[in-house]
Amino acid sequence: MKNEINIGLLGFGVVGSGVAKILHEHRDDLSHKLGVPVKINKVLVKDVNKKRNTDLSADIFTTDLDEIIADPTIDLIVEVIGGTSEAKQAIERSLRSGKGVVTANKDVMAQSGLELLQLADENRCDLFYEASVGGGIPLIRTLEDGLASDRIHAITGIVNGTTNFILTKMKHEKKTYEEALQEATELGFAEADPSADVDGIDAARKMVILASLAFSTDVRMEDVFVRGMKEIRKGDLELADQFGYTIKMAGSAKKDEAGIEVAVEPVFVPNSHPLASVNNEFNAVYVYGDAVGETMFYGPGAGSLPTATSVTGDIVAACRNLLLGVNGKRLHAPQFKCKIKSDSQKYARYFHRISVKDEVGVLTRLSAVYSNHGASLATVIQHADRNNGGVDLIMITHEISRQQHLDIMNELQNTPEVIEVLSFYRVEGETR
Ligand code: NDP
Ligand code: HSE
Repeated sequence: MKNEINIGLLGFGVVGSGVAKILHEHRDDLSHKLGVPVKINKVLVKDVNKKRNTDLSADIFTTDLDEIIADPTIDLIVEVIGGTSEAKQAIERSLRSGKGVVTANKDVMAQSGLELLQLADENRCDLFYEASVGGGIPLIRTLEDGLASDRIHAITGIVNGTTNFILTKMKHEKKTYEEALQEATELGFAEADPSADVDGIDAARKMVILASLAFSTDVRMEDVFVRGMKEIRKGDLELADQFGYTIKMAGSAKKDEAGIEVAVEPVFVPNSHPLASVNNEFNAVYVYGDAVGETMFYGPGAGSLPTATSVTGDIVAACRNLLLGVNGKRLHAPQFKCKIKSDSQKYARYFHRISVKDEVGVLTRLSAVYSNHGASLATVIQHADRNNGGVDLIMITHEISRQQHLDIMNELQNTPEVIEVLSFYRVEGETR
């Protein structure tokens, strides 16, 4: 029986320093819960000379991964260096050397999660990744354990803290996109390369992880439809508000008899919907199960201590398994082959903002484009805004397929009365 658990911490940035802080400040509680103390033995960083605000001794910091992997006293590796190839190699080498791994790395888990879980299983090691989705919200464990008996058919919500922070600051504090992104970066929410956040890639990785787990299948990045927040045009946030909506960067994964659809995109959410009031770096995820119905999980989606809470939760789980000698017994290969729906099988309502010539008969001409494609309109409004010498028309459809939406966009772009299709959004959280 072990009388202490030793950790090799890979990375001491926003998340790694938070993990060290929690393990230090909550050491007595953790020791009580596990029956043995948990200690950080070595820390891998890029630059050992960087000034760090920590109680850990400077001589445990190293730039040599081999030193950590080869250390027989280290029981568990915590990977929070981020990135892909080096992080993946570090995880693989740790597992091959018989050390369990806790990671916050959604890039690696979205790309190679199944392969690494398989490797962990083969080496009788744990590989836990709670912090890869939803920051401090315990979502992975909820799907794996709490909702294990149910059949999940949809997961929708806000899974990226940075973009939600930016949209909140732009809407409520009238900050510019650049100012808000800068603030999110300074607060440690954004990825090392923030284009992963704003282009929707980070959220897509998280939806791959959630959808694969929830639907027991193997969703890949190329299966996810992704639109970044740069698609949001000037004036759209205010316009959405005038129509009773808030624009959110949302992730959605839905499954029915036709197959699976996974998307990340800026969407219109009705102001009355709870997702509309999820602000700043907070995330909120709805999980719909056949038996449980609708459940919602809400909490900080990024940041040092919230994310470190999920990492240390995984450390506790891995330590318990180590103490019981039952590591590496979690893998369940996907039950189903992933079948992605075609665009004609994906249904939603759409908001279209179109700049048109200010001429008699334009409205009739445009309405005809919609009816040509079998789309019925819920709202048609000529807005006071003027762009490019024309007027803005707002069209909100009833439910149509994504294919119908694309066909309409295509025809509008070739309609002489249309100056420009300014923007379009799927409407989330409302069917009619
Ligand atoms: P940071 O950039 O703040 O920290 C990265 C740390 O890893 C630094 O200490 C750096 O060393 C070290 N490092 C990076 N590359 C190497 C390398 N090749 N060799 C050795 N050390 C290296 O990242 P975060 O803490 O923000 O993120 C870590 C992981 O957690 C990422 O996968 C991220 O996606 C994920 N995550 C982050 C969240 C957040 O809110 N920030 C939330 C959820 C997940 P040095 O200090 O010397 O530069
Ligand atoms: N950059 C990520 C976000 C960190 O903003 O959500 C949490 O995964």
